[in-house]
Amino acid sequence: MSQTGDQFKKIIAHCKEYGYIFQSSEVYDGLAAVYDYGPYGAELKNNIKAYWWKAMVHANENIVGIDSAIFMHPKIWKASGHVDAFNDPLIDNKDSKKRYRADTLIEEYVEKKLTAKIEKEVAKAAKRFGDSFDREQFVSTNPRVVANVEKRKKVMDRFTAAMANNDMAELKQIIIDAEISDPISGTKNWTDVRQFNLMFSTQMSNIAGSEDDSKLYLRPETAQGIFVNFLNVQKTTRQKLPFGIAQIGKAFRNEIVARQFIFRMKEFEQMEMQFFVAPGTEMKWYEHWKAERLKWHHQVTPNEKLRYHDHDNLAHYANAAVDIEFEFPFGFKELEGIHSRTDFDLRSHQELSGRKLQYFDNEKNESYVPYVVETSIGVDRMFLSVISNAFKEEEVPDAKGGTSTRTVLNIHPALAPVKVAVLPLLKKDGLPEASRAIMDELKYDLNCFYEDKDTIGKRYRRQDAVGTPFCITIDHQTLEDDTVTLRDRDSMKQERINKNALLDKVKAATSMINLIKA
Ligand code: GAP
Repeated sequence: MSQTGDQFKKIIAHCKEYGYIFQSSEVYDGLAAVYDYGPYGAELKNNIKAYWWKAMVHANENIVGIDSAIFMHPKIWKASGHVDAFNDPLIDNKDSKKRYRADTLIEEYVEKKLTAKIEKEVAKAAKRFGDSFDREQFVSTNPRVVANVEKRKKVMDRFTAAMANNDMAELKQIIIDAEISDPISGTKNWTDVRQFNLMFSTQMSNIAGSEDDSKLYLRPETAQGIFVNFLNVQKTTRQKLPFGIAQIGKAFRNEIVARQFIFRMKEFEQMEMQFFVAPGTEMKWYEHWKAERLKWHHQVTPNEKLRYHDHDNLAHYANAAVDIEFEFPFGFKELEGIHSRTDFDLRSHQELSGRKLQYFDNEKNESYVPYVVETSIGVDRMFLSVISNAFKEEEVPDAKGGTSTRTVLNIHPALAPVKVAVLPLLKKDGLPEASRAIMDELKYDLNCFYEDKDTIGKRYRRQDAVGTPFCITIDHQTLEDDTVTLRDRDSMKQERINKNALLDKVKAATSMINLIKA
């Protein structure tokens, strides 16, 4: 097991042990790629959603929120292109009987075999030449690097064309030509590549019309609920372009190849915002939202763990697209997508529904279909990035003068599920009663946790593992002078403060305003 794989396994085990995430239907041996959130997981998820909603909806006068239904008219998915084009190209290995996304196999080959080789050569040369190293010159002249760059370009050109032309035979040929083997069986014994639609469907009995019309889809993105409500929202909130509509909600995709814990699930949650703009201004707004969204991430995630990745293959609706990638324990992967969706969706709905979905621009004195810039992030992926970033095993001094390992989740205090633990030093002498009184003062403003079992050291460690930013310890001195010990999770420093100062202090340190106003 690699070190990163090991770290990922530890994170998954930690999520289960500390009530963050459970496998769905575990008593029946689980349901693949479906997960339940436990008590701390539900709190963290709610805090992530609140951070997004406050930053997007409350902090921007020209963005409003909605909550549309999961079930929608089936024609919506025809108009959006999902019925015809929301497919994954899948390929099976005949020996391992495992199924893979053909595009992912090729992308991973390019990344791990070609790009990695190029970067290794570059790093070696950079070390050898020191300050005088010229990367551009080296990459364009070193024969081994030039050969690999050319090889990569050829593969990527073929791959991009095959994806654009829906050419499944060519995708298979690329896999064969690149001699990509199954990571499990090690063989190159592949089936043909076939397209699988990712939408789940169900039936609704009371839709009039043809049999096809009674087929409902579980929405694969929340965005369409925004598009079809565009005029309802614009008129009722009297918004002028540019303005945005935001929504948080469940989405469903029949991901055949679902691995990596909550990174790719069949049922997940999205936080999406469609920003409606005048045609011709979309690239300006695309750049704006690219920068804004990265800023939002930077508030809770270190810069070096985030990067942009421009799309090589654009979705059927986009004229520009970039991912914000996070360095998960299994490498840099998509966390959020920012897409310039043109007027594709509104125009398609206008055509199929026969209803005008246009905006009357008073200044220009004309009606037009607005263009859209979309920001789209999975709540669960954000959750995984927060947990992966927060999980640490640290060597810390112990009571006997040596060191011991503590596991800590240093989740940003504004996102932490529990803000403060209230811990009586002993379970007697009136300390539990005094602690409960403090808890009663705090619990309406802060999510608190009370515990009086075990030694105080063990309780601190448990709260570190849960990610609680503050612990309050109530001891005999509290009964005399109203002071308590306030312990900080990250520095483990303790200070003695008056119990009446607790609420303001902990509220200020854990407030989401710190993230949004900064
Ligand atoms: N409306 C555009 C859209 O849905 P997407 O790139 O397919 O675009 C947007 O999805 C985001 O939703 C992704 O960046 C990711 O965070 C999240 N997401 C997509 N599929 C997911 C899945 N199967 N499991 C968890 N999150 C997923």
